[in-house]
Order: sequence, then C-alpha cells, then structure tokens
Amino acid sequence: MASAPLLFFDSGVGGLSVVAPTQALLPHAPIVYAADSAGFPYGIRSEAEIAARVPALLGRLVERYRPRLVVIACNTASTIALPVVRAALDLPVVGTVPAIKPAAALSRSRVIGVLGTDATVRQAYVDDLAARFAGDCVVLRHGSAELVRLAEAKLAGIATDSARYRAVLAGLFDQPEGERIDVIVNACTHFPLVADELAAAAPAGMQFVDGGAGIARRIAFLTEGQPWAEAVPAHRAVFTRLGEAERALAPALAAYGIGVIESL
Ligand code: DGL
Repeated sequence: MASAPLLFFDSGVGGLSVVAPTQALLPHAPIVYAADSAGFPYGIRSEAEIAARVPALLGRLVERYRPRLVVIACNTASTIALPVVRAALDLPVVGTVPAIKPAAALSRSRVIGVLGTDATVRQAYVDDLAARFAGDCVVLRHGSAELVRLAEAKLAGIATDSARYRAVLAGLFDQPEGERIDVIVNACTHFPLVADELAAAAPAGMQFVDGGAGIARRIAFLTEGQPWAEAVPAHRAVFTRLGEAERALAPALAAYGIGVIESL
C-alpha cells in the first residue's frame, strides 16, 4: 500500500535523529513517530522492564497504524529487545546499535568513547561489537541519563547550560586513558540532537559518530521498489502519555513535518 507508513519508535524525541536522514533519502515516506513518554526514560530501567514493554507497545502500534516497516530508533530498546520484537512482528524491523565499527575505522589514537544510556553501555551486545570491530582499541563507556534530559529540554525550547554538557563528557575523559579519546560514539539516538552543544563542550577536533545515516540507507534498501503516495504525506506523532511536556514538543516535531499529535 502506497500509504503505509514507516513507524519509528523511541522512548522520547531521540528517534528524530534517525527520522532526519531517512526523510533526506525517502521524502515521500509517510512517517508515524511513536514515543513511549509514559515509559521514559528507558536508560534507567531494567532489562526485564524494557524487554516486556517494547514488544507489547509495538504490537499495539502496528495494529493501529499498519506500517510497512518498523524502526526501533532507540539503542536501549534495540540492544535489549530487538530479537523479541522481530520474533513477534510479521514485518521488517530495523534496529539501532552503537556505531562502534565506524568509530574504530576513524580513530587514530585507538581510544574511543561510547556515550549511551546506562542500560545500553552495560549490554553484552556492546562488548561483542567492541571485540569484533574495535579489538585493537581501548573502548571507554559512559552512561548518561542527564544527556537524554538535555536533548529533550532543547527540543522543548528550554535553554540548557554548556557546563552540563562538559560534565557529561567528563564521564568519559576522566577515565584512565580518557584524555586520548579522539572519536565518540553517540550510542543513544537523543545525543545527535545536541551535536552542536557536545562539539562545543569537547576538545577541538573531537569526532562524533552515530548510526542515523546507516539506518536510513538500510530503510531505503528494504523499501526499494515499493510505491509511495504522490503527495507529500501528513506525518504524525503518537505518545503513550500526552501531557503538557509532550505538547511543548510540537514546534520541534513540526520541523520534521510532523503536524498531527495524538495519544496511544
Ligand atoms: N533514545 C534512547 C536510546 O537511543 C534512550 C533514551 C532514554 O529513554 O533513556 O538509547
């Protein structure tokens, strides 16, 4: 069906950092942006909570919106629940995993930083990526719920202080060998939304990488040859809790062409 949307899922607004490169490749794709605001933030939750919550919610969302493809635009949910979601849904599911491979390809110092949520950075999945793609690198990790909050605040139009970004990055740089980091993986989809603030708070020349562009290419590949509606589609956002905080995100959502906001 030409009108069948792409469904993006995150705990909050982070997945918009995956929507942007997808829209650049697929401007005619209708988008449903789903945020589990009632479960936000995921990064401080247990594996069991996330593994129970995400497949159940995606089941309801798929039933309501009938997407052609689901994007789990959240590292925390993907590193914990991707296999369960894939087993439960009868359609393609694209996940988001820390971009350790491209970071290792870029690093000259062979010390890379992985900035994610607490739940993501403790996953065995990350050990595995580090061993497979960055075996000759020191891979330092830091989990930050604060940086997730800063990204949400920025998109809600609330001013944030540069000292808070410096304090987050200190969580990487203050570790042994941390001063040698030359590439940082934004291993949470919220973090590219504050790319400018992070760059300003980091030493000059620090490189940041994330998976957004690669995920967009994967979505384009999986939908190649499929029809899209002629007219530019109306995109929508759906929140599991729709209160004042979520309504404050309307201008940020509008910047992605998302004009309809509803609750699940
Ligand atoms: N955006 C999410 C991620 O990529 C998680 C943010 C949160 O809810 O803690 O990990």
